[in-house]
Amino acid sequence: MPFDFPEPWRVKVVEPIRRPEPDEREERLRAAGFNLFDVPAEAVFIDLLTDSGTSAMSDSQWAGLMLGDESYAGARNFYNFEQTVKEIFGFPYLVPVHQGRVAENLLFSTLVEPGMIVPNNNHFDTTRANIEVNGGAALDLVIEEGKHPEVEHPFKGDIDLEKVRQLFEETPRERIPLAMMTLTNNSGGGQPVSLENIRGYSELCREFGIPFYIDACRFAENAYFIQQREPGQGKRSIPEIVKSIFELADGCTMSAKKDGLANMGGFLASRNTELIETIKQRLILIEGFPTYGGLAGRDLEAVARGLREVLNPEYLRFRISQTQAFGSRIAGLGIPIIRPVGGHAVYIDAKKFLPHIPQAHFPAQALVVALYRQGAIRGVEVGSVMFGRKDPESGADIFPELELVRLAVPRRVYTNTHLRYVCDCLEEIRDLRGQLKGLRMTYEAPVLRHFTADFEEIEAVRQKELV
Ligand code: F0G
Repeated sequence: MPFDFPEPWRVKVVEPIRRPEPDEREERLRAAGFNLFDVPAEAVFIDLLTDSGTSAMSDSQWAGLMLGDESYAGARNFYNFEQTVKEIFGFPYLVPVHQGRVAENLLFSTLVEPGMIVPNNNHFDTTRANIEVNGGAALDLVIEEGKHPEVEHPFKGDIDLEKVRQLFEETPRERIPLAMMTLTNNSGGGQPVSLENIRGYSELCREFGIPFYIDACRFAENAYFIQQREPGQGKRSIPEIVKSIFELADGCTMSAKKDGLANMGGFLASRNTELIETIKQRLILIEGFPTYGGLAGRDLEAVARGLREVLNPEYLRFRISQTQAFGSRIAGLGIPIIRPVGGHAVYIDAKKFLPHIPQAHFPAQALVVALYRQGAIRGVEVGSVMFGRKDPESGADIFPELELVRLAVPRRVYTNTHLRYVCDCLEEIRDLRGQLKGLRMTYEAPVLRHFTADFEEIEAVRQKELV
């Protein structure tokens, strides 16, 4: 698919970006120990590290900032925010938070106790961590198709309902404090979930008396996929589909840094008033008073306006078609990617693309380094650096199944021309891929090592000897 659908906005303010010269890129890479998290954003030309908090706000959102009411309690922006969330999602009770993981922290610290299990299609890292830190187990039950990069399926984020039923039948009710579903399924490649699957999951939860919560970060993108792909949904509007999704749930966690089109913000919403009242006490301890929850009044206004804008069909059509066209173009270069392309990112299969670099030498990280070296582009490794670990007994390396590089597309930030530039750089990398070098980790922190690890490049000859 070509980049044929034009941006449904025009540019009113510009932020200059700079492409450092090759010498500077080389210096930056070395100074950062070949870890792109350590490269200052100012030295990045096209930044595809994440789609979270990186959106461009609209003129209406910027205007809304000037209407910020910074009263400690009962700011007018809170009421607008509350009204907007109630209207779009239909949940009667909610608290604002400064980002998604705080909603997770509040929900799981209230409901999860040691030995409990929380199922999901795929838990995002922070969701998993917030369950585990409370002694719970985060169980991934995505359908089999969702685990294979090359398998095409319209709703690869669906949960395996057979496995859910089995889990519910075999586990005492009190050990499953809630069930979760992530829209779209970020950890599985930004793949959507069908309305039918959400309904099936919701019905199982009702049958077994288990509260059902949605991780709603990319809810509008998921609704767009339902409209485009699910039989019988094509004529329904995005707000109608969103209503149908959330009326099946008991609540949701939300990071407004994604489909809130804001740089910061989020919320936890529910139909359970007692739960929200309990959570408000904890919220006051860690975030702030329940009418601002860690945000300035102006931020609440930006989120409220962003949540309405994200439902615009022209916006969503551009958004999804831009990511799809980006992925198709990369695939057209003969570079292996996760198929089909998800909503917010393209994931390159680095293990397949760089077969000469063994997993122990971090092929996905080698590609991340090559992207910066070639074009001052920043992507993120989702492979052995992020998920690899040592066997506690033997000390042997345990590698994840996939070695991916995620190129996440920020919302309304880059034009199709920017993404075409990324494709051109990838084409050049493809032609010299045999020369790309693996890496050796020279420093690793005991937790979340990918943020701070240092590397050195392994010279090609030595690499062959080590294999
Ligand atoms: N759930 C999902 C599915 C996410 O993708 C994220 C964040 C969160 C929860 C946590 O939200 O960052 O506001 O606390 N994902 C970002 C990413 C960080 O790059 O994919 P947060």
